[in-house]
Amino acid sequence: FQPKLLAGRRVLLTAGPTFERIDAVRGITNSSSGKMGFAVARAAWEAGADVTLIAGETAQPTPPDCRRIDVRSAQDMLAAVERELDGTDIFIAVAAVADYYVLNQSEHKIKKDAHILTLELAPNPDILASVACRDNPPFCVGFAAESENLLEYADAKRRRKQLPLLVANLVQQAMGADDNEVILLDDAGEHRLPRGPKLAVARQLVAHLAGLYAQCGPA
Ligand code: C5P
Repeated sequence: FQPKLLAGRRVLLTAGPTFERIDAVRGITNSSSGKMGFAVARAAWEAGADVTLIAGETAQPTPPDCRRIDVRSAQDMLAAVERELDGTDIFIAVAAVADYYVLNQSEHKIKKDAHILTLELAPNPDILASVACRDNPPFCVGFAAESENLLEYADAKRRRKQLPLLVANLVQQAMGADDNEVILLDDAGEHRLPRGPKLAVARQLVAHLAGLYAQCGPA
């Protein structure tokens, strides 16, 4: 009998896109499908974890036994993460969070006319960085989707956000696709996972993070 790798651990995840409101009917979002985050949630549940999934707008079905909290904007996502963080052992930020929100939102539908319309964008909070820089943070895992210079940018991101583990992938290969190919970056270096369906990749990621967590994480 082999005990499950994350038995008794509480895992909190973010997944999917955020939606930043412009007016009563419009908004800014991105092409994240939520597939990878939901696959990681499922893999964590298979590994025995108690899973809470904070999801942006996505059509993905909730993985078995996961507690799912639906959110819209990055600020809603941050508020949900802060509410759920207590008792979290492992925080995995898979969501494609919008970098900016619209400052000059309009309560009602904006009517068109001949004038130029300007949207003012203000930076969103970095949810993952805000969790990772707390006192006694959970074991934090980030994702880096880059379109070029993958390893260089991803490594810089891991250091800047102070993450023990970062999952790097090329956006061209991952966003919306059913397969993914990722490289894991941790203190020991790079670990390339074979290209495969997102659930297969997620299972390998969870096995890797459970190994790291067992070395340096659990209380
Ligand atoms: O800085 P960048 O957006 O590329 O970082 C990606 C990682 O940070 C992902 O794990 C993503 O979920 C997380 N993130 C976040 N809040 C943001 C931006 C990114 O949690 N505002």
